[in-house]
Amino acid sequence: MAHDFLSFFTAWMAAPGRVGAIAPSGAALAELITRDITAATGPLLELGPGTGAFTYQLLKRGVRQQDLTLIEYGSDFMRLLQLRFPGARVLWMDAARLASEQLYRGSPVGAVISGLPLLNMSPRKVISIVSGAFSYLRPGGAFYQFTYGMRCPVPRPILDRLGLRATLVDRALLNVPPAAVYKLTRRPQYKLITRDSAPADDSSVARITGERRASEDCTVPA
Ligand SMILES: C[S@@+](CC[C@H](N)C(=O)[O-])C[C@H]1O[C@@H](n2cnc3c(N)ncnc32)[C@H](O)[C@@H]1O
Repeated sequence: MAHDFLSFFTAWMAAPGRVGAIAPSGAALAELITRDITAATGPLLELGPGTGAFTYQLLKRGVRQQDLTLIEYGSDFMRLLQLRFPGARVLWMDAARLASEQLYRGSPVGAVISGLPLLNMSPRKVISIVSGAFSYLRPGGAFYQFTYGMRCPVPRPILDRLGLRATLVDRALLNVPPAAVYKLTRRPQYKLITRDSAPADDSSVARITGERRASEDCTVPA
């Protein structure tokens, strides 16, 4: 929608680092990041939905609006999402605060879909977001993240620290710019991140430099 491009561009002009893109994601990327989702996935958490490019695709896949919680920090996007998805729960909040809120009773979420610009965030913030999201994910649940970068935007030391692994789902070469989707899951046998076990001290990871982040890779399936 032309209106969405204008909303995005205006938001990007005001806060380029936070918005992280000059235009909403295209259909190829929306299809790829939601590929594994069905109505049976159950409650879903979407982080950084923007104008709702992935949200519309989730609805097409049979997800009910009542099963959607949308976390958006941009106030204009938040108001637009409230109008577009009146049955969804739309929260105006920083995704880094997930762990300090009580969004659900327990950990019922089947999947997290994230459009957040993680490469623009500090390691500390990435840890807060990912560990907070996993605290709501049920066993077997997955966190889907897209990136314009060449590697997984959650660097290896953070994955190790949180007991997670990342696999490349695929690349959406038709997206402008081309993007990749990664799927983060808990490592087998690893103690589950729960509402009570989010890391208290992330000082070691906060020291990871941008250079080191770029050199770390994620698991790519054989
Ligand atoms: C790259 S855009 C992606 C938007 C949409 N998912 C898409 O693909 O078209 C990033 C979105 O994340 C939101 N965002 C950035 N930082 C955030 C944060 N800390 N908490 C919640 N939303 C955030 C921005 O406002 C923006 O809507």
